Amino acid sequence: MAKLKLAVLISGRGSNLQSLIDACQGADYPGEIVHVISNVPGVKGLERADHAGIPTTVIDHSKFAGRDLFEAALGDVLESSGADLICLAGFMRLLSGTFVTRWHDKIINIHPSLLPAFKGLDVHQRAIDAGVRFTGCTVHFVRPDMDSGPIIAQAVVPIHDDDDAGTLAARILKQEHVIYPLAVKLIAEERIILINERVTVKNSCDSEASLINPAAD
Ligand code: GRF
Repeated sequence: MAKLKLAVLISGRGSNLQSLIDACQGADYPGEIVHVISNVPGVKGLERADHAGIPTTVIDHSKFAGRDLFEAALGDVLESSGADLICLAGFMRLLSGTFVTRWHDKIINIHPSLLPAFKGLDVHQRAIDAGVRFTGCTVHFVRPDMDSGPIIAQAVVPIHDDDDAGTLAARILKQEHVIYPLAVKLIAEERIILINERVTVKNSCDSEASLINPAAD
């Protein structure tokens, strides 16, 4: 079976990009990264892509007169990359409804909370302040509203009494690096069924006792 071609969009550190690079290096993994695009020049994620021999493009949003022109440039690079799936991995630009609709069900995102709780920014501190005992991370299909769309995979992470935003972010990030490659694998294996904006996963092993759903198999 041909591998699913991925384009990864980043704005910074790129640790989730790295988790996808590492997964794609497995011979049996059903995805390959064909292009990495950053809207910020000089970021660590670009170095990671270079190191893995993946083509990169910087499309600096600040050099464009408006979002439509930025997105037109982004669309051109994505089109010519031949990507089947666009993975947002710490990509800090909101995409317009027009762009998201053009790539319907072809854009996924990772967010460091259990959506639909704690959309937006500063999520770790907000989760601590809210006093929730558990938070986590979510991979979801992207829809025009920020941090919304059908949920593909989630992992639950406990909040400890002595956590600060940094310690909590680190605990969640570890799980992000598990569920992002998992979600991509499920899509590549055509195991994701999307009906009425709700995802079910074909042939998922019993995950009742797991804090990752679907269980990493
Ligand atoms: C991650 O926490 C991700 O969930 C959020 O932005 C952060 C990006 O981190 N969307 P990295 O660049 O992948 O290390």
